[in-house]
This record gives sequence, C-alpha cells and structure tokens, in this order.
Amino acid sequence: MIIDPQQQDLRANYKLLIGSIVPRPIAFVSTINAGGIANVAPFSFFTGATPAPPTVVFAPLRRFSDGAEKDTLRNIRANGEFVVNGVPETLVEDANAAATEFPPEVSEFSEVGLTPAPSIVVKPPRVGESPINLECRLVQIVELGPAAAGGGALVIGEVVRFHLRDDLVDNGRIAIDRWNPVGRLAGAEYTTIGRRFTLERKGR
Ligand SMILES: Cc1cc2nc3c(=O)[nH]c(=O)nc-3n(C[C@H](O)[C@H](O)[C@H](O)COP(=O)(O)O)c2cc1C
Repeated sequence: MIIDPQQQDLRANYKLLIGSIVPRPIAFVSTINAGGIANVAPFSFFTGATPAPPTVVFAPLRRFSDGAEKDTLRNIRANGEFVVNGVPETLVEDANAAATEFPPEVSEFSEVGLTPAPSIVVKPPRVGESPINLECRLVQIVELGPAAAGGGALVIGEVVRFHLRDDLVDNGRIAIDRWNPVGRLAGAEYTTIGRRFTLERKGR
C-alpha cells in the first residue's frame, strides 16, 4: 500500500506516524507560567540529539480540537526553561493523568499528586517521583506546519543538569532494569523493555 499524505487528513497521517514510530520514549515535561504555576505533561514525540552540548528535542503539537498551542509550549516561549522527567513504569499512570486538559491556572502537580522538587539551574520544578530529570534551557523553537490543528513546534533544549537517582548509575552508564522506562505505542497502548539482545558493531 502506498499513501500520499496530502490525499488524507491529519488524523489519518497521525495514526500512521504513531504506529510506524514505536516504541517512543516519553518526556514528562515540567514548565512554569508567568504566574509561577507549575505545569507538567507527557510528550512522546521526543528524542535526544547531540552530546556536546547534551541536547534533547520534543514536539508539542497544536490541539486537534481547536488548533490552540499547549501550555507547555506557551510556558517555554515565555521563559525558555523546562525539565524533561523520565517515565518509569511506576509513573506512567500519573503521566497519563497529567495529559488531561487542565486550564493554565491549574497545576498538574497538585491535580495528579506529584511532588515538585527544586531544580538547580532552571526555575521549573522537577517531578520528584521520576528517577531521571534533565534540566533544560531552550536552544530554539522550530515552527512546523500551519498555525492550526495539525501544526506544531519542535522544541530544542540543552541539558544543563542531569539528576539521576543514585542506584540507577553504574560506572557512568544507566542500569536499564532499575530505570524500567515505559514506551508509548499507538493509541492507549504502552510497553516496557522486553527481550534484550546484544549486537556488536562491525569494523570498530
Ligand atoms: C503518553 C503520552 C504522550 C503524549 N505525547 C504528545 C506529544 O508528543 N505531543 C503532543 O503535542 N501531545 C502529546 N500528548 C498529549 C499531551 O500530553 C496533552 O495534550 C497535554 O494536555 C498537554 O498539556 P499542556 O497543555 O499542559 O502542555 C501525549 C499524551 C500522552 C498520555
């Protein structure tokens, strides 16, 4: 089957993207608004980019319902700071609950029952329940698509502090079994790390 994305609507294209790009790690992103209210929401259009400086990217889309920008993006536009909190299996239900569309004056931290932990370099708090927090400073926002439903933005951030729960770090590497991250599949489906195997790189 061959599909021209211009011949179908944004929801149909979205379904093909989220089914093709799997599993996706989840960035649970905390920000603050001008009134100092902390916001946190999950984003699975997320990955790392470069190590020097350590850089991450994620994509807050405009709301499908009305084309409005998400609070997370508005807050980052306003003050250029955010924290990417990792989502282990123990936190995934809270991350899902935080994806509810609360009004900007309501903090997901109190609504969902998450603990705001102070950051060191940036103002947005970390999610205390997360074993990995990446304090980030905005590098660039790349606007994508129309200023309407279907469009969005790519947020590029530099990691200015890593916070890692002590038992997670083994000789400078992260012990994946103790971290136990969750991946997002399509729709309401998620996954944890399944069968693992080793593949050596040739010619190194
Ligand atoms: C696991 C998960 C992953 C999500 N990934 C994204 C994403 O990559 N981009 C996006 O725009 N929304 C994503 N969402 C939806 C947002 O979390 C949701 O719209 C949220 O209300 C945005 O909050 P905000 O307005 O406080 O920024 C995801 C939701 C869940 C549950």
